[in-house]
Amino acid sequence: MTSFIWQVGTHHIPFLIGTDCAEAVARKLGELEADRLLVISDENVLRLHSQRYEPVLQKAHVTGWPGSEMDKNLAAVESLASQLIVAGVTRRSILIAMGGGVLGNLTGLTAALLFRGIRFVHLPTTLLAMHDSVTSLKQGVNCAGAKNIIGGYHAPTAVFVDTAFLQTLPSAQIRSGLTELVKNALILGGDYAAQLSAALGEPEMDWLGIIQLGIAAKQSLMRDDPHERSAALALEYGHTIGHALELSCGGQLSHGDCVAWGMRCAAWISRDLGYMNESGLERHESWLDRLGELPRPRELADMDEVRRRIRLDNKRGYLPVGADEVAMVLLREPGLVMNAECGVPLTAVRMAAVERMLGCLGRAWQMEQ
Ligand SMILES: NC(=O)c1ccc[n+]([C@@H]2O[C@H](COP(=O)([O-])OP(=O)(O)OC[C@H]3O[C@@H](n4cnc5c(N)ncnc54)[C@H](O)[C@@H]3O)[C@@H](O)[C@H]2O)c1
Repeated sequence: MTSFIWQVGTHHIPFLIGTDCAEAVARKLGELEADRLLVISDENVLRLHSQRYEPVLQKAHVTGWPGSEMDKNLAAVESLASQLIVAGVTRRSILIAMGGGVLGNLTGLTAALLFRGIRFVHLPTTLLAMHDSVTSLKQGVNCAGAKNIIGGYHAPTAVFVDTAFLQTLPSAQIRSGLTELVKNALILGGDYAAQLSAALGEPEMDWLGIIQLGIAAKQSLMRDDPHERSAALALEYGHTIGHALELSCGGQLSHGDCVAWGMRCAAWISRDLGYMNESGLERHESWLDRLGELPRPRELADMDEVRRRIRLDNKRGYLPVGADEVAMVLLREPGLVMNAECGVPLTAVRMAAVERMLGCLGRAWQMEQ
Protein backbone atom coordinates (compact mmCIF):
# COMPACT_ATOMS: atom_id res chain seq x y z
CA MET A 1 0.00 0.00 0.00
CA THR A 2 1.13 3.54 -0.66
CA SER A 3 0.47 6.38 1.72
CA PHE A 4 0.97 10.06 1.15
CA ILE A 5 -0.29 13.40 2.38
CA TRP A 6 -2.56 15.33 0.06
CA GLN A 7 -1.98 19.00 0.79
CA VAL A 8 -4.72 21.43 -0.04
CA GLY A 9 -4.63 24.90 1.49
CA THR A 10 -3.93 24.42 5.20
CA HIS A 11 -5.21 20.84 5.17
CA HIS A 12 -2.89 17.84 5.18
CA ILE A 13 -5.09 14.85 4.37
CA PRO A 14 -3.63 11.33 4.72
CA PHE A 15 -4.27 9.08 1.71
CA LEU A 16 -3.80 5.32 1.73
CA ILE A 17 -4.01 3.66 -1.65
CA GLY A 18 -3.77 -0.01 -2.52
CA THR A 19 -5.60 -3.09 -3.74
CA ASP A 20 -7.72 -5.37 -1.58
CA CYS A 21 -6.75 -3.67 1.65
CA ALA A 22 -9.75 -4.02 3.99
CA GLU A 23 -7.53 -5.18 6.88
CA ALA A 24 -5.21 -2.18 6.55
CA VAL A 25 -8.19 0.20 6.30
CA ALA A 26 -9.69 -1.31 9.47
CA ARG A 27 -6.35 -0.89 11.28
CA LYS A 28 -5.99 2.75 10.20
CA LEU A 29 -9.58 3.51 11.23
CA GLY A 30 -8.78 2.07 14.65
CA GLU A 31 -5.95 4.59 15.03
CA LEU A 32 -8.34 7.52 14.64
CA GLU A 33 -9.71 7.05 18.18
CA ALA A 34 -13.38 7.51 17.39
CA ASP A 35 -15.99 6.55 19.96
CA ARG A 36 -18.13 5.11 17.11
CA LEU A 37 -17.54 4.32 13.47
CA LEU A 38 -20.64 4.82 11.35
CA VAL A 39 -20.45 3.49 7.81
CA ILE A 40 -22.85 4.97 5.28
CA SER A 41 -22.83 2.85 2.16
CA ASP A 42 -24.48 2.58 -1.20
CA GLU A 43 -26.74 -0.51 -1.15
CA ASN A 44 -25.17 -1.87 -4.38
CA VAL A 45 -21.77 -1.68 -2.74
CA LEU A 46 -22.94 -3.39 0.44
CA ARG A 47 -24.42 -6.24 -1.60
CA LEU A 48 -21.19 -6.74 -3.54
CA HIS A 49 -18.49 -5.96 -0.98
CA SER A 50 -19.76 -6.41 2.59
CA GLN A 51 -18.11 -9.82 2.93
CA ARG A 52 -14.73 -8.52 1.73
CA TYR A 53 -15.08 -5.45 3.99
CA GLU A 54 -16.05 -7.43 7.07
CA PRO A 55 -12.92 -6.20 8.97
CA VAL A 56 -14.31 -2.64 8.75
CA LEU A 57 -18.03 -3.31 8.89
CA GLN A 58 -17.97 -5.60 11.93
CA LYS A 59 -16.64 -2.73 14.07
CA ALA A 60 -19.10 -0.16 12.74
CA HIS A 61 -22.75 0.76 12.68
CA VAL A 62 -23.79 0.34 9.03
CA THR A 63 -26.46 2.36 7.22
CA GLY A 64 -27.36 1.40 3.65
CA TRP A 65 -28.53 4.20 1.36
CA PRO A 66 -30.69 3.12 -1.57
CA GLY A 67 -30.65 6.45 -3.42
CA SER A 68 -29.01 7.89 -6.51
CA GLU A 69 -28.16 11.28 -8.03
CA MET A 70 -31.86 12.20 -8.26
CA ASP A 71 -32.15 11.75 -4.46
CA LYS A 72 -29.02 13.77 -3.56
CA ASN A 73 -30.87 16.53 -1.72
CA LEU A 74 -31.41 18.12 1.68
CA ALA A 75 -34.19 15.65 2.53
CA ALA A 76 -31.63 12.83 2.18
CA VAL A 77 -29.21 14.72 4.45
CA GLU A 78 -31.92 15.18 7.09
CA SER A 79 -33.02 11.56 6.87
CA LEU A 80 -29.42 10.32 7.16
CA ALA A 81 -28.67 12.68 10.07
CA SER A 82 -31.80 11.45 11.88
CA GLN A 83 -30.75 7.81 11.44
CA LEU A 84 -27.26 8.59 12.73
CA ILE A 85 -28.60 10.47 15.76
CA VAL A 86 -30.80 7.49 16.63
CA ALA A 87 -27.74 5.24 16.13
CA GLY A 88 -25.86 7.24 18.79
CA VAL A 89 -23.52 9.50 16.80
CA THR A 90 -21.49 11.90 18.99
CA ARG A 91 -18.93 14.64 18.40
CA ARG A 92 -16.20 11.99 18.65
CA SER A 93 -17.72 9.68 16.05
CA ILE A 94 -16.48 9.24 12.51
CA LEU A 95 -18.70 8.80 9.46
CA ILE A 96 -17.29 6.56 6.72
CA ALA A 97 -18.57 7.22 3.18
CA MET A 98 -18.32 3.85 1.40
CA GLY A 99 -19.63 4.46 -2.11
CA GLY A 100 -19.40 6.65 -5.17
CA GLY A 101 -19.40 10.43 -5.46
CA VAL A 102 -23.10 10.76 -4.64
CA LEU A 103 -22.72 8.90 -1.35
CA GLY A 104 -19.48 10.80 -0.60
CA ASN A 105 -21.16 14.19 -1.07
CA LEU A 106 -24.16 13.18 1.03
CA THR A 107 -22.00 11.84 3.86
CA GLY A 108 -19.56 14.76 3.68
CA LEU A 109 -22.33 17.33 4.00
CA THR A 110 -24.03 15.39 6.80
CA ALA A 111 -20.70 15.25 8.66
CA ALA A 112 -20.26 19.01 8.15
CA LEU A 113 -23.67 19.70 9.70
CA LEU A 114 -23.91 17.20 12.56
CA PHE A 115 -22.75 18.96 15.76
CA ARG A 116 -21.60 21.75 13.34
CA GLY A 117 -18.89 19.47 12.03
CA ILE A 118 -17.66 15.97 12.90
CA ARG A 119 -14.97 13.86 11.25
CA PHE A 120 -15.58 11.72 8.19
CA VAL A 121 -13.44 9.55 5.95
CA HIS A 122 -13.84 8.59 2.32
CA LEU A 123 -13.76 4.96 1.21
CA PRO A 124 -14.54 5.54 -2.48
CA THR A 125 -15.87 2.66 -4.60
CA THR A 126 -16.13 4.21 -8.10
CA LEU A 127 -13.25 5.29 -10.31
CA LEU A 128 -14.64 8.84 -10.40
CA ALA A 129 -14.78 9.05 -6.62
CA MET A 130 -11.28 7.54 -6.18
CA HIS A 131 -9.45 10.36 -7.93
CA ASP A 132 -11.97 13.18 -8.27
CA SER A 133 -14.80 13.65 -5.80
CA VAL A 134 -12.64 12.66 -2.78
CA THR A 135 -10.03 15.24 -3.79
CA SER A 136 -12.31 18.16 -3.05
CA LEU A 137 -13.42 19.93 0.09
CA LYS A 138 -16.78 20.67 -1.55
CA GLN A 139 -19.69 18.74 -0.06
CA GLY A 140 -22.97 19.58 -1.74
CA VAL A 141 -26.43 18.41 -2.70
CA ASN A 142 -28.91 19.43 -5.41
CA CYS A 143 -31.87 21.76 -4.93
CA ALA A 144 -34.52 23.32 -7.21
CA GLY A 145 -33.01 21.69 -10.27
CA ALA A 146 -29.52 23.06 -9.66
CA LYS A 147 -26.55 20.72 -9.09
CA ASN A 148 -24.57 20.90 -5.83
CA ILE A 149 -26.07 24.32 -5.03
CA ILE A 150 -26.43 23.73 -1.28
CA GLY A 151 -23.33 22.69 0.59
CA GLY A 152 -20.19 23.65 2.38
CA TYR A 153 -16.48 22.96 2.59
CA HIS A 154 -15.52 20.11 4.88
CA ALA A 155 -12.23 18.21 4.68
CA PRO A 156 -12.12 14.45 5.14
CA THR A 157 -9.97 13.21 8.01
CA ALA A 158 -8.49 10.53 5.72
CA VAL A 159 -9.08 8.88 2.36
CA PHE A 160 -8.67 5.13 1.78
CA VAL A 161 -8.60 4.09 -1.87
CA ASP A 162 -8.95 0.35 -2.54
CA THR A 163 -8.90 -0.44 -6.26
CA ALA A 164 -10.44 -3.89 -5.65
CA PHE A 165 -13.82 -2.10 -5.66
CA LEU A 166 -13.31 -1.49 -9.38
CA GLN A 167 -13.65 -5.23 -10.08
CA THR A 168 -17.42 -4.97 -9.80
CA LEU A 169 -17.85 -1.50 -11.29
CA PRO A 170 -19.85 -1.55 -14.57
CA SER A 171 -17.93 -0.39 -17.65
CA ALA A 172 -20.20 2.65 -18.01
CA GLN A 173 -19.02 3.80 -14.58
CA ILE A 174 -15.38 3.15 -15.51
CA ARG A 175 -15.88 5.44 -18.53
CA SER A 176 -17.46 8.03 -16.24
CA GLY A 177 -14.31 8.06 -14.08
CA LEU A 178 -12.05 8.22 -17.13
CA THR A 179 -13.93 11.29 -18.35
CA GLU A 180 -12.75 13.45 -15.45
CA LEU A 181 -9.16 12.29 -16.11
CA VAL A 182 -9.54 13.28 -19.77
CA LYS A 183 -10.97 16.62 -18.60
CA ASN A 184 -7.79 17.18 -16.54
CA ALA A 185 -5.74 16.49 -19.70
CA LEU A 186 -7.81 18.98 -21.69
CA ILE A 187 -7.35 21.77 -19.14
CA LEU A 188 -3.75 21.03 -18.05
CA GLY A 189 -2.13 19.64 -21.20
CA GLY A 190 1.67 19.23 -20.83
CA ASP A 191 3.20 16.37 -18.83
CA TYR A 192 -0.09 15.30 -17.31
CA ALA A 193 -1.72 14.86 -20.73
CA ALA A 194 1.33 12.95 -22.03
CA GLN A 195 1.39 10.64 -19.00
CA LEU A 196 -2.35 10.00 -19.14
CA SER A 197 -2.18 9.34 -22.86
CA ALA A 198 0.59 6.76 -22.30
CA ALA A 199 -1.27 5.13 -19.40
CA LEU A 200 -4.52 4.84 -21.39
CA GLY A 201 -2.58 3.28 -24.28
CA GLU A 202 -1.38 0.34 -22.16
CA PRO A 203 -3.04 -3.04 -22.83
CA GLU A 204 -3.90 -3.36 -19.11
CA MET A 205 -4.97 -0.44 -16.99
CA ASP A 206 -2.61 0.33 -14.10
CA TRP A 207 -5.39 1.68 -11.89
CA LEU A 208 -3.09 2.57 -8.99
CA GLY A 209 -0.92 4.67 -11.29
CA ILE A 210 -3.86 6.25 -13.12
CA ILE A 211 -5.66 7.20 -9.90
CA GLN A 212 -2.49 8.75 -8.45
CA LEU A 213 -2.03 10.70 -11.65
CA GLY A 214 -5.56 12.11 -11.30
CA ILE A 215 -5.00 12.97 -7.64
CA ALA A 216 -1.74 14.80 -8.48
CA ALA A 217 -3.46 16.72 -11.30
CA LYS A 218 -6.09 18.03 -8.92
CA GLN A 219 -3.47 18.92 -6.34
CA SER A 220 -1.63 21.05 -8.90
CA LEU A 221 -4.72 23.27 -9.22
CA MET A 222 -6.11 23.07 -5.71
CA ARG A 223 -3.07 23.34 -3.43
CA ASP A 224 -3.30 27.14 -3.41
CA ASP A 225 -7.01 27.31 -4.21
CA PRO A 226 -8.60 24.86 -1.76
CA HIS A 227 -12.09 26.31 -2.17
CA GLU A 228 -11.93 26.14 -5.98
CA ARG A 229 -12.71 29.83 -6.41
CA SER A 230 -9.91 30.90 -8.78
CA ALA A 231 -7.40 28.71 -10.70
CA ALA A 232 -9.16 25.49 -9.69
CA LEU A 233 -12.40 26.70 -11.31
CA ALA A 234 -10.83 25.24 -14.48
CA LEU A 235 -11.83 21.84 -13.05
CA GLU A 236 -15.39 22.89 -13.89
CA TYR A 237 -14.63 22.43 -17.60
CA GLY A 238 -17.62 20.72 -19.23
CA HIS A 239 -19.69 21.04 -16.06
CA THR A 240 -21.92 24.03 -16.91
CA ILE A 241 -23.63 22.09 -19.68
CA GLY A 242 -22.82 18.71 -18.10
CA HIS A 243 -24.63 19.45 -14.84
CA ALA A 244 -27.63 20.81 -16.75
CA LEU A 245 -27.79 17.59 -18.79
CA GLU A 246 -27.29 15.36 -15.77
CA LEU A 247 -30.46 16.47 -13.99
CA SER A 248 -32.47 17.10 -17.19
CA CYS A 249 -31.82 13.52 -18.34
CA GLY A 250 -33.22 12.26 -15.03
CA GLY A 251 -30.36 9.88 -14.29
CA GLN A 252 -30.27 8.26 -17.77
CA LEU A 253 -26.63 9.33 -18.23
CA SER A 254 -23.78 9.11 -15.71
CA HIS A 255 -22.07 12.21 -14.31
CA GLY A 256 -19.02 11.51 -16.47
CA ASP A 257 -21.00 11.03 -19.69
CA CYS A 258 -22.77 14.34 -19.07
CA VAL A 259 -19.44 16.08 -18.46
CA ALA A 260 -18.05 14.54 -21.67
CA TRP A 261 -21.03 15.91 -23.62
CA GLY A 262 -20.55 19.19 -21.74
CA MET A 263 -16.91 19.37 -22.88
CA ARG A 264 -17.89 18.62 -26.48
CA CYS A 265 -20.53 21.40 -26.28
CA ALA A 266 -18.01 23.84 -24.73
CA ALA A 267 -15.59 23.12 -27.60
CA TRP A 268 -18.38 23.73 -30.16
CA ILE A 269 -19.09 27.08 -28.47
CA SER A 270 -15.39 27.98 -28.45
CA ARG A 271 -15.08 27.19 -32.16
CA ASP A 272 -18.35 29.03 -32.93
CA LEU A 273 -17.06 32.16 -31.17
CA GLY A 274 -13.73 31.97 -32.99
CA TYR A 275 -11.62 31.12 -29.92
CA MET A 276 -10.74 27.55 -30.98
CA ASN A 277 -9.67 26.66 -34.51
CA GLU A 278 -10.49 23.47 -36.45
CA SER A 279 -7.19 21.82 -35.57
CA GLY A 280 -7.84 22.49 -31.85
CA LEU A 281 -11.34 21.06 -32.19
CA GLU A 282 -9.98 17.91 -33.87
CA ARG A 283 -7.45 17.38 -31.08
CA HIS A 284 -10.21 17.98 -28.54
CA GLU A 285 -12.39 15.36 -30.27
CA SER A 286 -9.55 12.85 -30.34
CA TRP A 287 -9.30 13.09 -26.53
CA LEU A 288 -13.04 12.45 -26.23
CA ASP A 289 -12.69 9.52 -28.68
CA ARG A 290 -10.58 7.78 -26.04
CA LEU A 291 -13.77 7.39 -24.02
CA GLY A 292 -15.44 5.41 -26.82
CA GLU A 293 -18.85 6.30 -28.19
CA LEU A 294 -20.71 8.51 -25.72
CA PRO A 295 -24.21 7.27 -24.91
CA ARG A 296 -27.20 9.45 -25.77
CA PRO A 297 -30.22 9.58 -23.47
CA ARG A 298 -32.89 7.02 -24.46
CA GLU A 299 -35.39 9.86 -24.49
CA LEU A 300 -34.25 13.19 -25.80
CA ALA A 301 -33.82 15.63 -22.94
CA ASP A 302 -36.16 18.59 -23.01
CA MET A 303 -33.90 21.39 -24.26
CA ASP A 304 -36.01 24.03 -22.43
CA GLU A 305 -35.16 22.24 -19.23
CA VAL A 306 -31.45 22.11 -20.17
CA ARG A 307 -31.53 25.85 -21.02
CA ARG A 308 -33.14 26.69 -17.66
CA ARG A 309 -30.60 24.62 -15.72
CA ILE A 310 -27.63 26.15 -17.55
CA ARG A 311 -28.75 29.49 -16.11
CA LEU A 312 -28.80 27.92 -12.62
CA ASP A 313 -25.13 26.90 -12.82
CA ASN A 314 -23.45 26.93 -9.41
CA LYS A 315 -20.54 29.11 -10.67
CA ARG A 316 -22.84 32.13 -10.92
CA GLY A 317 -21.27 35.20 -9.35
CA TYR A 318 -17.57 34.42 -9.85
CA LEU A 319 -17.57 36.52 -13.02
CA PRO A 320 -19.96 39.45 -13.48
CA VAL A 321 -22.03 38.62 -16.56
CA GLY A 322 -25.00 40.23 -18.29
CA ALA A 323 -28.58 38.95 -18.02
CA ASP A 324 -28.25 37.15 -21.36
CA GLU A 325 -24.87 35.61 -20.60
CA VAL A 326 -23.52 32.60 -18.71
CA ALA A 327 -19.99 32.13 -17.31
CA MET A 328 -18.27 29.01 -18.65
CA VAL A 329 -14.81 27.46 -18.71
CA LEU A 330 -13.68 27.57 -22.36
CA LEU A 331 -10.48 26.41 -24.02
CA ARG A 332 -8.54 28.10 -26.79
CA GLU A 333 -7.09 24.68 -27.55
CA PRO A 334 -6.50 21.49 -25.54
CA GLY A 335 -4.25 22.48 -22.63
CA LEU A 336 -5.00 26.20 -22.86
CA VAL A 337 -7.81 27.56 -20.67
CA MET A 338 -9.15 31.07 -21.36
CA ASN A 339 -8.98 33.53 -18.47
CA ALA A 340 -11.16 36.57 -17.85
CA GLU A 341 -9.45 39.93 -17.25
CA CYS A 342 -9.99 39.50 -13.50
CA GLY A 343 -7.92 36.31 -13.71
CA VAL A 344 -10.56 33.61 -13.19
CA PRO A 345 -10.63 30.85 -15.84
CA LEU A 346 -14.14 31.81 -16.95
CA THR A 347 -15.55 33.39 -20.11
CA ALA A 348 -18.87 35.21 -20.45
CA VAL A 349 -20.85 33.43 -23.17
CA ARG A 350 -23.98 34.93 -24.72
CA MET A 351 -27.10 32.79 -24.54
CA ALA A 352 -27.35 33.12 -28.34
CA ALA A 353 -24.17 31.00 -28.62
CA VAL A 354 -25.59 28.55 -26.08
CA GLU A 355 -28.75 28.32 -28.24
CA ARG A 356 -26.69 27.46 -31.34
CA MET A 357 -24.84 24.80 -29.34
CA LEU A 358 -28.14 23.32 -28.09
CA GLY A 359 -29.24 23.09 -31.75
CA CYS A 360 -26.05 21.10 -32.56
CA LEU A 361 -26.60 18.86 -29.53
CA GLY A 362 -30.24 18.19 -30.45
CA ARG A 363 -29.17 17.23 -33.98
CA ALA A 364 -26.32 15.02 -32.70
CA TRP A 365 -28.67 13.17 -30.37
CA GLN A 366 -31.51 12.83 -32.89
CA MET A 367 -29.14 11.44 -35.54
CA GLU A 368 -28.52 8.40 -33.36
CA GLN A 369 -32.11 7.84 -32.18
N1 LIG B 1 -17.33 17.14 -4.47
C1 LIG B 1 -16.85 17.23 -5.66
O1 LIG B 1 -16.03 18.06 -5.90
C2 LIG B 1 -17.29 16.28 -6.75
C3 LIG B 1 -16.44 16.03 -7.83
C4 LIG B 1 -16.87 15.13 -8.82
C5 LIG B 1 -18.12 14.55 -8.74
N2 LIG B 1 -18.94 14.83 -7.68
C6 LIG B 1 -20.26 14.21 -7.59
O2 LIG B 1 -20.12 12.81 -7.66
C7 LIG B 1 -21.31 12.26 -8.17
C8 LIG B 1 -20.99 11.18 -9.19
O3 LIG B 1 -20.32 10.15 -8.52
P1 LIG B 1 -20.11 8.70 -9.17
O4 LIG B 1 -19.76 8.86 -10.58
O5 LIG B 1 -19.19 7.98 -8.26
O6 LIG B 1 -21.58 8.09 -9.18
P2 LIG B 1 -22.48 7.36 -8.08
O7 LIG B 1 -22.05 7.67 -6.71
O8 LIG B 1 -23.89 7.66 -8.46
O9 LIG B 1 -22.21 5.81 -8.38
C9 LIG B 1 -22.53 5.32 -9.65
C10 LIG B 1 -23.19 3.95 -9.58
O10 LIG B 1 -22.22 2.96 -9.29
C11 LIG B 1 -22.68 2.08 -8.26
N3 LIG B 1 -21.46 1.60 -7.58
C12 LIG B 1 -20.64 2.33 -6.80
N4 LIG B 1 -19.54 1.59 -6.49
C13 LIG B 1 -19.69 0.39 -7.09
C14 LIG B 1 -18.88 -0.77 -7.18
N5 LIG B 1 -17.68 -0.83 -6.61
N6 LIG B 1 -19.36 -1.82 -7.90
C15 LIG B 1 -20.56 -1.76 -8.52
N7 LIG B 1 -21.35 -0.67 -8.51
C16 LIG B 1 -20.92 0.39 -7.79
C17 LIG B 1 -23.60 2.92 -7.44
O11 LIG B 1 -24.53 2.13 -6.76
C18 LIG B 1 -24.27 3.77 -8.52
O12 LIG B 1 -25.34 3.07 -9.09
C19 LIG B 1 -22.14 13.40 -8.73
O13 LIG B 1 -23.20 13.69 -7.85
C20 LIG B 1 -21.16 14.56 -8.74
O14 LIG B 1 -21.80 15.81 -8.58
C21 LIG B 1 -18.54 15.67 -6.69
